[in-house]
Amino acid sequence: MKIAISGKGGVGKTLVAGIIARLFAKEGFDVLAIDNDSAMNLSYTLGIEDEVKSKIVPISEMKTMIEERTSVKGAGTGVYNINPEVSDIPDRFKVTGPDNLQLLVLGGIEEPASGCLCPENALIRTLLFNLFVKRNEVIVVDFEAGLEHLGRGTAKGIDVMLVVTEPSQKSLDLCSKIIDLSKKLGVVNIFLIANKLFDDSQLSTINDRIKNWEIPLYHSIPFDLEIGKADLKGISPLDYNNKSEAIQSIRRLYDKLKKLKIELFDL
Ligand SMILES: Nc1ncnc2c1ncn2[C@@H]1O[C@H](COP(=O)(O)OP(=O)(O)OP(=O)(O)O)[C@@H](O)[C@H]1O
Ligand SMILES: [Mg+2]
Repeated sequence: MKIAISGKGGVGKTLVAGIIARLFAKEGFDVLAIDNDSAMNLSYTLGIEDEVKSKIVPISEMKTMIEERTSVKGAGTGVYNINPEVSDIPDRFKVTGPDNLQLLVLGGIEEPASGCLCPENALIRTLLFNLFVKRNEVIVVDFEAGLEHLGRGTAKGIDVMLVVTEPSQKSLDLCSKIIDLSKKLGVVNIFLIANKLFDDSQLSTINDRIKNWEIPLYHSIPFDLEIGKADLKGISPLDYNNKSEAIQSIRRLYDKLKKLKIELFDL
């Protein structure tokens, strides 16, 4: 199952992506977590060891390799291969984390809005396509805020799009756009998740705001001070306090996804 996480900046995408990936791995699934964010935060939430973390170089920054893969022999400047060979890259550059989960840091895509087809973007897009369509693991992708880089090709293999919102109209507005785009790109299972909820009144306000949307709220996660404490220490919230309210809630989200996985693939 290929799970993508999207939403506005700071809403909790990395938290949800990291904990879901860890929980799948804990239960023995082969998991490949993908960090497609230029800030490279996923490794903290996953609990990757410092020594491993310090050696990670995002694929988008591997200039020589990108040049080699995208160059076209004999062509002049500005001409390059937009469909480079990438199938060996995940296994070459992934690192191992807790419960044998694997992490591949793609890094961000520069100038996404311009639709820039520079070599870095071409390689990352091809790689995302390759990961979604050709791999067998449970794949969890922590996307950059917004979804500018998601094209028809890359969206094809996504089984589940988790769209995360916090209790704010701005965040909901972007979710609405992401949901529309994901639908247009052919993603079937699109789920809205509310995070950082202080109380039930916020939950009912969100439900009220989305009452005319085609999809209902799939799950909600409470605001939880333990998450911030874990972040401050730079350790995974799952290792810091696995009984905290937000973690317990994400566990319930995980249970729903696992059930869906069985419905989609194992029945
Ligand atoms: N349920 C929660 N309760 C309390 N704090 C939370 C919760 N979820 C996330 N946070 C805090 O909000 C901040 C942003 O979370 P996170 O990094 O997961 O969001 P993001 O959407 O990945 O952000 P970015 O767009 O910058 O990548 C972090 O400081 C995190 O500790
Ligand atoms: Mg993030």
